[in-house]
Amino acid sequence: MRIEVLADPAAVARRAAGVVADVLRATPDAVLGLATGGTMRPVYDELVALQRRGEVDFTRATTLNLDEYAGLAADHPASFAAYMRAALFSRVPVDPARIHLMRGDAPDPQAEARRYEAAITAAGGIGLQLLGIGRNGHIAFNEPGTEASTRTRLAPLAAATQQVNAPAFHPQPVPERALTMGIATILEARRCLLVATGADKAPAVARMVQGPVGPDCPASFLRGHPDVTVLLDPAAARDLAAAAPSG
Ligand code: GLP
Repeated sequence: MRIEVLADPAAVARRAAGVVADVLRATPDAVLGLATGGTMRPVYDELVALQRRGEVDFTRATTLNLDEYAGLAADHPASFAAYMRAALFSRVPVDPARIHLMRGDAPDPQAEARRYEAAITAAGGIGLQLLGIGRNGHIAFNEPGTEASTRTRLAPLAAATQQVNAPAFHPQPVPERALTMGIATILEARRCLLVATGADKAPAVARMVQGPVGPDCPASFLRGHPDVTVLLDPAAARDLAAAAPSG
């Protein structure tokens, strides 16, 4: 696990977008695993800026998103499908046939999970997986208690996660479950790039990097992956022993 502490959240976003752009320049038909959440918004803004300057091209890329709330159709404003359209897919030229999202409102979630795993395999596996981290140490919607062997499935959301995401659904209740790639699915990506900014992520980041590896902090399983880069701002790195700015 390589840790880079950048000067501020904007520098983190620029660096993350730079990694994605490098992958797309080297491999125009790269398979990208994409994440949602507030942390990723400035990363997508940077990628859009790079695309407008002609420095990155998504037209041959395949994308597979990490997760989706159960029960939500793609046109629900709080869906991750809507997030991705607003953050990236409506802003850069992409091939709709190469965009993969889980159908939150699939009538048979188990079948949808199997379909999604098959789509990852058919794409040739994920080359670069973008990840955020939850305040409770989740990655995608793999909440504390999730085992390393898990694959794409319907999973319960922790009460804390429901609380954090409640404003997006107000006055409706937050979904209690989500479709999510599993830990084993994520660990099969050839490379992972986790981005975390802000002091509220500091305890989860410290547990991911320095705590015991196990289901109590699902992000800690990334330590078993051979190629993980973690991009942090100083606030998110605050609880790490011996963290020093690296640029
Ligand atoms: C959500 C997503 C995760 C994301 C996390 C952090 O729960 N399922 O993939 O990493 O939240 O989001 P934020 O960046 O908004 O803190």
